Amino acid sequence: MGDSRPELIRDIAGLRDRLAVARKAGSPIGFVPTMGALHAGHGALMDAAKRDCNFIAASIFVNPIQFNNKEDYEKYGRNLPADLDFCAAHQVDVVFAPGPEEMYSTEQDAFVEVLNVSNGLCGEFRPGHFRGVATVVTKLFNIVQPDISYFGEKDAQQLAVIRRMVQALNMNTQITGVPTVREPDGLALSSRNQRLTPEERAYAPILFQALDAARLKALGGCQSATEVRAAGLDFLSKEPRIRLEYFEIVDAEDMQPVTHISARICIAAAVWLGSVRLIDNIAVQPLIVSPGR
Ligand code: PAF
Repeated sequence: MGDSRPELIRDIAGLRDRLAVARKAGSPIGFVPTMGALHAGHGALMDAAKRDCNFIAASIFVNPIQFNNKEDYEKYGRNLPADLDFCAAHQVDVVFAPGPEEMYSTEQDAFVEVLNVSNGLCGEFRPGHFRGVATVVTKLFNIVQPDISYFGEKDAQQLAVIRRMVQALNMNTQITGVPTVREPDGLALSSRNQRLTPEERAYAPILFQALDAARLKALGGCQSATEVRAAGLDFLSKEPRIRLEYFEIVDAEDMQPVTHISARICIAAAVWLGSVRLIDNIAVQPLIVSPGR
C-alpha cells in the first residue's frame, strides 16, 4: 500500500490543470466523490477505482445544499488531516477539497432534478436532498470529467438517481456501484455511526437483521411485498428504541414500490436511533419458480 500523501487541491482551476496533465499522460481517471469522515466503505470505493484506473481523484466536500437539516450539516464529521491519511493508504492521487465558497461562488440558481426515481424513500423524508446531490455531482463531474465514478450501494436510491441522471443527460462517465461494507455484526458502515452512543451502537445491527428477515421471506418464495415488508417490520418492532422512518419494498431499478415481487427488488429502510438517522438496504433477486415445475 502506498502511503505518500495525495496532492491536496482546493480550487477548481488548479484541479482542472492537474487532471489535464494526468489525462495527457494517458491515465484513465477514476473518481470517488465523498463528504469526508472516511471509513472502510469509502476505502472499498477507492480500491475498486484503483483496480480499474491508474489515476484516482477523490473529492471531500460536505455539500450544504443536500442537507435539509441544519444540525445534520453542522454535525457532519470533518477531519481533513485524517481523511488525507486515509486517502494515502488507498493510493488516491489527488484530493479535491474545496470550501463552500469555491463550489458555490455565485448564487446557485441552476439545479439538476431527477424525477421519478427521486420520489419516495429518502426523497419523501428529505425534501430537496436528491436535487442537492444531483446538482453537486453534476458540478463535480463537469470539473473532474472522470472516466469512471464510484458510488456505494449502501445509498441505493442515490446510486439509482445518479445512474438515471447520467443516462438521461448523456453524461460522459461510467458509474460503478460498490457493495456495502458492513461491521461483523451487520451494521453498514456510515459516517453517521460515529455519532451513535455506545447504547445505540449496541442495538443498531437490528436494522440489518430486519432487512435480512425480509430478504429471507422473499427468498423463501413469498411474492407479496406486504408480507415481505411485514416480516422485516416484525423483526424491527423487537427494539422499541428504534423510530421507523420507512421500510419499503421497491423495484431495484427505478426504486418505486412494488406489490407483487417478480423481479429484482431492493428492501430499503431508514430509522432513527436517538438523534442519528441510519439508512440501509438489501437487494434481492427472487427465485421465481413457474407453476407446474
Ligand atoms: O454519498 C455522498 O457522500 C454524497 O451524497 C456525495 C455523492 C459525495 C454528494 O455530495
